[in-house]
Amino acid sequence: MSEEMHFRVAVFASGSGSNFQAIVDAVSDGQLPNVSLELLVCDRPKAKVIERAKQAGVPQFIFRPKDYASREAYEQEILGVLRERQIDLVVLAGYMRIVTSTLLEPYEGRMINIHPSLLPAFPGLDGIGQALEYGVKVTGVTVHYVDGGMDTGPIIAQVPVAIGEEESQESLEQRIHAAEHRLYVEVIRLISEGRVSVEGRRVRVESAHT
Ligand code: GRF
Repeated sequence: MSEEMHFRVAVFASGSGSNFQAIVDAVSDGQLPNVSLELLVCDRPKAKVIERAKQAGVPQFIFRPKDYASREAYEQEILGVLRERQIDLVVLAGYMRIVTSTLLEPYEGRMINIHPSLLPAFPGLDGIGQALEYGVKVTGVTVHYVDGGMDTGPIIAQVPVAIGEEESQESLEQRIHAAEHRLYVEVIRLISEGRVSVEGRRVRVESAHT
């Protein structure tokens, strides 16, 4: 496939970046044939994800929010970088900041997030701990479009993860993260193939055979 045909993805992350790594690995082993990973945006100069991006040769835009007068100011700068690199899809993967209309409007319907629970249950911080604490028997992972709310946008895909009798936070985190890595790669592939469309809150995913 020629370079122009590539679906250009930017990942935003603040921490470890295991989802970023899963996307890097999927691109390099051919699971995302249309995708080129063009950019990592990171708001924490010491985050482990930056090392991963360097290793993988993915360009980085690293910033410190406190160096800017406002959220709008740094989002404007990020927007400039996204435009310069002609980014088609913004993938939030553990990006620990609210995204506002400065970025959301230009990227409406082209920005996705992953959350470690079956939304609308347990939005916000520590979805895994919230589910354990509540005592649900099944939790999971959700990938959704980003809108102005906290984990409220239209749901693209979900996968359940059962909680065992003796489950610890660590064991559940491990299984949720493994599920996240598979689901995020799958959803990015579907979007890159133009198979995902939105009607109001309902997201339609065309299967390979239609
Ligand atoms: C994941 O659990 C994701 O669902 C949440 O933040 C975490 C990021 O983990 N939004 P990592 O940095 O990708 O390892």
